Amino acid sequence: MTNHSNMDFQAWLTAIQTRTEQTLSHLIPAENIAPQHLHAAMRYATLGGGKRVRALLAHAAGEFCQAPANKIDIAAAAVEMIHAYSLVHDDMPCMDDDDLRRGKPSCHKQFDDATALLVGDALQSLAFEVLSTPELHTNAQHQLKMLYLLAVASGSRGMAGGQAIDLASVGQALSQTELEYMHIHKTGALIRAAALLGAHCSPSEDAGRVRAIDQYAQNIGLAFQVVDDVLDAEADTKTLGKTAGKDADANKPTYVTILGIVRAKELSRELLNEAIAPLKPYGEEAIRLVQLAQFITERDF
Ligand code: IPE
Ligand code: IPE
Ligand code: MG
Ligand code: MG
Ligand code: MG
Repeated sequence: MTNHSNMDFQAWLTAIQTRTEQTLSHLIPAENIAPQHLHAAMRYATLGGGKRVRALLAHAAGEFCQAPANKIDIAAAAVEMIHAYSLVHDDMPCMDDDDLRRGKPSCHKQFDDATALLVGDALQSLAFEVLSTPELHTNAQHQLKMLYLLAVASGSRGMAGGQAIDLASVGQALSQTELEYMHIHKTGALIRAAALLGAHCSPSEDAGRVRAIDQYAQNIGLAFQVVDDVLDAEADTKTLGKTAGKDADANKPTYVTILGIVRAKELSRELLNEAIAPLKPYGEEAIRLVQLAQFITERDF
């Protein structure tokens, strides 16, 4: 068996998920630290669940750029915090009104709306706190660029903006271009940031590799939400750990409503091919990124 077999990929996946959990657990204040209730809710929303796709992307991209794993851990945790915050708010009654997340009651169900709002606020701040830690990078200018990247990806020109478009699109018949614009923002921006931040943890930057990562991540970011839309329509609640059929119930335009299931699945495969094309010249060195792209597009949860 070669070093980069599927077995090896599974082991890598589990190892990164485990170290991501440990890093997050270390970085989020303990439940016995005041304000205890808020810290308990932050830990509830972030720990013990999730595929950790954004952390996996940060590590795969970082490894490809020879970044130290302990630095990637910090960048990966920052992105997972922003992601966890986005899920907490996404599930609130004023947004998707979803009671189930990662197989457990959503944060606002387990706690209350006000706590869920604060969990999002505090996780967002903590993400920038950890990304600005002096231990992260030897070059302050470079680290500033990383902070800027995550800020843009999270805000109104990134995830939050995409969420605003999502809410405004209920009941609308969007064109494929409009839908793509929404998905690139609400999901793609943070996925792209995850991969780029992993790459930027490297002390020496290889511009060619970073460009390849960027192309890869933009395509995988869109593919990720196409698959999420397909799963919402096709998978069951137990497998997903969140309420299936939610998009149709809420009358949301998705890749499934616009293209149909078959074409949406084809599109995710096309995006996979476009994602890995710029990595071809790197051969085996890019194998993790390729395997991860396959995992993201072929997943059933
Ligand atoms: C769900 O993201 C929300 C989207 C952006 C589509 P994930 O499917 O990555 O959620 P977890 O982190 O694994 O729970
Ligand atoms: C959520 O998209 C994207 C963000 C949270 C930014 P969805 O609303 O489709 O995510 P799920 O399906 O609830 O996980
Ligand atoms: Mg939503
Ligand atoms: Mg939702
Ligand atoms: Mg969804």
